[in-house]
Amino acid sequence: MALNTVTIPGLTSVEMLHWSQYIQQISGIHLDSTKTYLIQTRLGSLLRKTKSTTWSELLSKIRNDVTGQLRNELINSIATNETSFFRDIAPFELLKNKLIPDLIDRRAKEGYKRIPIRIFSAACSTGQEVYSAIILLKELLGDLNGYDILVTGVDISDRAISQASKGIFSSMEVARGLSPDRLSRFFNALPKGYKVKDEYRSLANFKKANLLAPILPFNEYDIVFCRNVAIYFEAETRRKLFQGICNMLKSEGSLIVGSTETIAMMNDTLNAAYHHNTVYYQKSDAHVSAGIHSASKQNQFNTFFQPNQKHNSIV
Ligand SMILES: C[S@@+](CC[C@H](N)C(=O)[O-])C[C@H]1O[C@@H](n2cnc3c(N)ncnc32)[C@H](O)[C@@H]1O
Repeated sequence: MALNTVTIPGLTSVEMLHWSQYIQQISGIHLDSTKTYLIQTRLGSLLRKTKSTTWSELLSKIRNDVTGQLRNELINSIATNETSFFRDIAPFELLKNKLIPDLIDRRAKEGYKRIPIRIFSAACSTGQEVYSAIILLKELLGDLNGYDILVTGVDISDRAISQASKGIFSSMEVARGLSPDRLSRFFNALPKGYKVKDEYRSLANFKKANLLAPILPFNEYDIVFCRNVAIYFEAETRRKLFQGICNMLKSEGSLIVGSTETIAMMNDTLNAAYHHNTVYYQKSDAHVSAGIHSASKQNQFNTFFQPNQKHNSIV
């Protein structure tokens, strides 16, 4: 019988529990028992490819794979990489009309000749958020020579990061959020798809990493986008994520979350700020001088999502 006609076995509730514990352990992504179908639909081909006859057998192969390749395939299949250029336009208006002008003013007052601008895209997927920020900076600032710009994108999916690094997008992907004018100014046409022009690609930096691992840099970024990833995590994991992100921000740095996400704080670590109808969070000076690595500063976030948010939805 051809391998691809082999019937996919069902998943018992005990197997689902083991899968969900493992996925949460390696990525933070929380799948409850209602997401059994996701394992079956997204990992069926991996089951066949590895000639596993049960879901437990496949899980054990993934756990024991010293190359890490099966684990990568699991993450690539389970993570939802949905994104688009200039997604939910408001954060980019905020960047253009408030965050970047304020940052430049601050740095100019501090005496910088060549102004550093450091932006971090947490869970950047295939890179559209990173390139949207770069397009916006170019349009806003014109000649970029007076600026030292780096936009860093991090994602746990090596497949997503590989596409982001190449800066190559299909016609369908560029049609989602890019005007024809922006497309011709910032991309070169390929026989199939479009590639970000080198001068803009060079302002981006991509890395495969788990945002929950203790590797995030400290006090390095002016602006962090962390959108549409915390929705896949449970409350405790979200707290950990935002603590790490808060540590990454410089004094007066800003955090932008997704349009349906919000962070409620229990102290003065990150303060909600408003620009027109857009909310963002700003790190106060006091927090940096108090030393944000201290144990007493841990677990100080009470992260929640607005009532219309669909928790932990992965589709
Ligand atoms: C829905 S996309 C969001 C993309 C982009 N931020 C946006 O809003 O358009 C969610 C991304 O989170 C990534 N992700 C999930 N868990 C992660 C983790 N623990 N560390 C880093 N990235 C993660 C997934 O691989 C996926 O690309």
